[in-house]
Amino acid sequence: MSAASIRLPLWAQTVASLAGAPAAGPLLLGVDYYPDQTPEALWEEDARMMADFGFTNVRIAEFAWALMEPAEGKFDFAWLRRSVEILHKHNIAVILGTPSAAPPPWLTAKYPDIVEVNEKGERLHPGGRRFTCPTNQAYRRLSLIIASEMARTFTETQGVIGWQIDNEFTLGSSQRCYCNYCQAGFQTWLRSRYGTLDNLNQSWGTVFWSQTYTDFSQIPVPLPSGGDPNPGLALDYDRYQSYANVSFQQEQLDMLRKTCPRHFVTTNNVGLVDTINMRDLYEKLDFTAFDNYPGFFDMLMAQQGRMGSSAFVSSSIALGHDLARSVKGGKPFMIMEEQSGKAGQKTFSPQPEKGQARLWTYQAIAHGAMGVNYFRWDTATFGAEEYWHGILNHDRSKSPAFDEIKQGVRELKALGREVLYSNYVTDAALVFDYDCSWALAIQPGHFRLAYLDQIVSWYGAISASRSGIDVIGPEIDLSAYKIVFAPVAYVMSEKQAARIRSFVQGGGMFVTNFRLGVKTETSQIVRTPLPGLLRDVMGVTVEDYIPVYSAKNGMKFSPALAGPDSECVLWTDILQPAGAEVLASYTMGAHAGQPAITMNSFGKGKAVYIGGDLNEASLARVLRTLSGMAGVKPPLEVPAGVEVTVRKAGNKQWIFVLNHGASSQSVNLPAAFVDLLTGEKLTGKIDIGAYGVRVLQA
Ligand code: GAL
Repeated sequence: MSAASIRLPLWAQTVASLAGAPAAGPLLLGVDYYPDQTPEALWEEDARMMADFGFTNVRIAEFAWALMEPAEGKFDFAWLRRSVEILHKHNIAVILGTPSAAPPPWLTAKYPDIVEVNEKGERLHPGGRRFTCPTNQAYRRLSLIIASEMARTFTETQGVIGWQIDNEFTLGSSQRCYCNYCQAGFQTWLRSRYGTLDNLNQSWGTVFWSQTYTDFSQIPVPLPSGGDPNPGLALDYDRYQSYANVSFQQEQLDMLRKTCPRHFVTTNNVGLVDTINMRDLYEKLDFTAFDNYPGFFDMLMAQQGRMGSSAFVSSSIALGHDLARSVKGGKPFMIMEEQSGKAGQKTFSPQPEKGQARLWTYQAIAHGAMGVNYFRWDTATFGAEEYWHGILNHDRSKSPAFDEIKQGVRELKALGREVLYSNYVTDAALVFDYDCSWALAIQPGHFRLAYLDQIVSWYGAISASRSGIDVIGPEIDLSAYKIVFAPVAYVMSEKQAARIRSFVQGGGMFVTNFRLGVKTETSQIVRTPLPGLLRDVMGVTVEDYIPVYSAKNGMKFSPALAGPDSECVLWTDILQPAGAEVLASYTMGAHAGQPAITMNSFGKGKAVYIGGDLNEASLARVLRTLSGMAGVKPPLEVPAGVEVTVRKAGNKQWIFVLNHGASSQSVNLPAAFVDLLTGEKLTGKIDIGAYGVRVLQA
């Protein structure tokens, strides 16, 4: 989809056409701001400082329900209007957040059953945020009322440019709601999905454990029940919960489209949380807006005892960005919240190194962002996020990253809309399928096998080939790519299998691994030998599938994938080729010598099956070698720790080179370039400083 299809508010259309780039959208280089938490006496100073900083916009009000509706049906937007007016006076545009993520105490006191029930059947308690049931009608009605009042109040207000619906639907202490309202909503959803009970009973195989339903009202939600739930029911429940959130959002979106036709509408999320299908959530919104907190990955790794792998952190962030862009078919996305200092609620993340905040900004732009908002302007001195550092410290002095963020904003404005709204270029795609993630979480097969882990490690391994990656859904036509990676493609629909078949037939390379095609869309196991629907394409039969526990296995590679043997620590599919070439074999135990990796020629293309779980180094080598065989070429050869991406508009192209390391790195340029950030003309060997960035144009 092209950048031109972003809904432009009228002011932005005017500004964009003045800038000579009518197809581009608004500049969104802003900050998340909380006038509701700031003494009014400081609002003017804040707006002046933001304007001086170079910010174009703020996002405000997404947690201010109690101030905007202090009692049911009594609204007070006067304070918000004063804030918007002050910001507008300083040319700071406003994205308004609808406040449904944090209902006020009067509301939960009067409507206690809007509060979510967790997977153990326990009702949560008000007092935090995101504790709500997405199906509950009272919650939906009241959320829509406050959002509608806001929309009516601000639709004509100068300076308001767009909306963020709610705040991080994927946030929260429990992942899904299991209350009576959700049960009833699930039953209604099932009725329209399956039509008849007979169809539902057949699709789930409810004859097992005597679960045949004779009325839709008997269908439970997967709460503790003396045994595991039916896998088909459990998978459908995850789909229902995703749908419930999307349809909750849709009510506010429909209203905003009607009331505020000149404003854009989006919502914000972190990318790598899989409870809601992001493709559905963003389908009808104007663009994706994701939140980016690299410090979280650092804390996560430290918790897992894996200190110090900056490669893991930078590639996890890049994966989130590539998902953000791909969720809407390549359309430029926005970072609604970008970490600007130490992050954390009870504990702090590491202090970002000097240069990192600017580097993270460019990393987002390099992967297709058109705007970045920083979290947050000032640092709260009260509430649960006192530790979450903003651009100003608690005492309103400048934070350590103040100057470099300011520098980045100035530079991005100079690069301009043409670069910010350009396309991202890649020949490779990674399939990220929510159904596989949910079905595998329900029955992982091995207690350490998790879909997101596989996605993160495959992404990390592929990004080592530095050729760019789209992160696509199973419903996407693959013909635009040279190579498509699909780890643990556990649930395989007939349509997806047909797309993969025609992709390979037409000359593409499809690379997958163990547990391919095990399940149907209703989470039944296929009745054919594995890998099920893709057996002919892969040219192999899975002779046996073996989780690896104490008795480890290993893999030895053929010359085509030459490298040291790999351990297989999690899983081994034992392969029996039917025409496929063997590229690696197992080294230990009963299956020593049997095929572990195969490559099949099918039509004009190739299909590669990696039967065993490879260690990090081998996975990187194997996937990089396969990329090369598929004809994928990195735009530049760069050392480890340096990232390269390409954005393109018409016949212009920009190469982003990002050094995620703490020391300077050098790169050999194959031609002459100009660094648009410094204006330097560059040829041959160039340096990129610690946490440095270059934007190269030929
Ligand atoms: C985000 C959330 C913000 C704020 C921030 C820092 O996930 O959207 O509201 O909580 O994290 O915790």
